[in-house]
Amino acid sequence: MLTQPDSLLKYLTDAKDLGLPQGHFIDGEFKAARSGRTMHSEDPGRGEAFANFARGDADDIADAVSSSRKALAVWRKTPPAERGRVLARTAELIRRNSERLAIAECLDSGKPIGEARGDVSGAARTFEYYAGACDKLEGSTFPLPSNYVGFSQFEPVGVTAHIIPWNFPISTAARGMAPALAAGCTVVAKPAEQTPFTALLLAELLTEAGLPAGVCNVVTGTGAEAGAPLVAHPGIDHVTFTGSVATGGRVLRACADNVTRSVMELGGKSPVVVLNDCNFDSTIANVAGAIFEHAGQICSAGSRLVIESAIHDRFVEALGKKAKAISLGHGLRSPDMGPVNSALQRDKILGFLDRARDRGAEFISGGRSSPNTESGKGYFIEPTIVANRPEDDELVQEEIFGPVLTVQKADDAEHALHLANCTRFGLVAGVFTSDFSKAHQLARDIDAGQVYINEYFAGGIEVPFGGNKQSGFGREKGLEGLKSYCKVKSIAARID
Ligand code: NAI
Ligand code: MG
Repeated sequence: MLTQPDSLLKYLTDAKDLGLPQGHFIDGEFKAARSGRTMHSEDPGRGEAFANFARGDADDIADAVSSSRKALAVWRKTPPAERGRVLARTAELIRRNSERLAIAECLDSGKPIGEARGDVSGAARTFEYYAGACDKLEGSTFPLPSNYVGFSQFEPVGVTAHIIPWNFPISTAARGMAPALAAGCTVVAKPAEQTPFTALLLAELLTEAGLPAGVCNVVTGTGAEAGAPLVAHPGIDHVTFTGSVATGGRVLRACADNVTRSVMELGGKSPVVVLNDCNFDSTIANVAGAIFEHAGQICSAGSRLVIESAIHDRFVEALGKKAKAISLGHGLRSPDMGPVNSALQRDKILGFLDRARDRGAEFISGGRSSPNTESGKGYFIEPTIVANRPEDDELVQEEIFGPVLTVQKADDAEHALHLANCTRFGLVAGVFTSDFSKAHQLARDIDAGQVYINEYFAGGIEVPFGGNKQSGFGREKGLEGLKSYCKVKSIAARID
């Protein structure tokens, strides 16, 4: 059995010490829902409720939006350097509170504590990065005739709504909040009902770092009761949404009614293209990490292995061995892989696997749920690899959002390119080869927002991220991500 120090394991039975907030964070303080209603969040590693939080609705959203609108007048006029100092202090406070944040994230989402610690340090880095960008938002001058002056400047887009999913709660919250605040916008965030706590804790830390009350509000609750009224609110100037294509479509329709700008990050079915001349061992490690990190619940997970035929048999056999050796367990016990986030998610994944079995698919590894050996509970799925499937197979075309890798055998690099592009998604792609030209030809021709060569998930907050095709539009991260929260104003003057 996996072991961990008692200081962590005590949270398996009692999370009170974490002091998790129970209210919305509105106007600089925690507040109960106006309706007085609450709901609970589960620890997916145990399949049990572990903490309560406010169940918000349109009334709480109205309070939060009105608070953020008032605060916009203050924050947009705060000198950029001072905005930067607040964000830099936030990065520092995230680091100082990292263990509490990581444990909260681990319990709420199910992810292994090591991955949660990585997410928390990534969130700190995000605030640090955008802290440095606040006072570098430079406009342009335009070459007009000499009796004119023309220039542009960036203005904050206004009050921004952030709909956050349950797979990367603190990372996604930070990825939206930090650039929005850097640009001088205010924020109303709605974390997923499965994982509400770290967004609330982040808002509290921002306030401790000196953010004026109302600049960052967080309302918790379900998508239907709190998310929908938020994105439809006429006081919202921009929506950043991360989640499923279906919900993204609903959010877009709500945005259309008010002509609200939006960034849509809608998941994928990302190919990992492996050519015969790859570095075998490091590519195996990368392909496994691409699909089994956070049990495959990553929008950019590498969920399709597109592999050249000469290397196929040896590679898939070694990968299957690796998958079978992966340990499963509660996130606090530092397993190789934790549970999936909910019973709903587990059953959705099992549905894909059962239907594949009915179609006669061959399983190289896994394929079933796996009860936690410790408690008999929790939402675990075995690391699963399904052998070569045709292009039109559901396992090739649909986002499963679980630890399920589908293999697609390619005749050569050209066929691999065709298979890489064969879905309606275009979020990321991995390419593994020692041939520099082939790597860059594939990077050029694959229709995806980003391509990783010889290291899956390469990059950091500096690198823009977002989707093509039904994976969405708009870019987050990097300076490109900052522009989503800025409006360009052009000013031209006649001076003679
Ligand atoms: P979802 O897209 O419904 O939920 C994401 C967020 O949207 C949550 O905060 C939810 O409360 C909110 N939401 C739901 N309905 C809303 C509405 N009408 N207006 C505004 N906000 C709303 O995703 P769900 O149902 O949790 O997961 C279903 C599938 O979505 C997963 O199996 C996975 O395939 C995909 N997904 C993809 C993610 C990604 O990172 N691309 C993240 C989460 C889910
Ligand atoms: Mg939870």
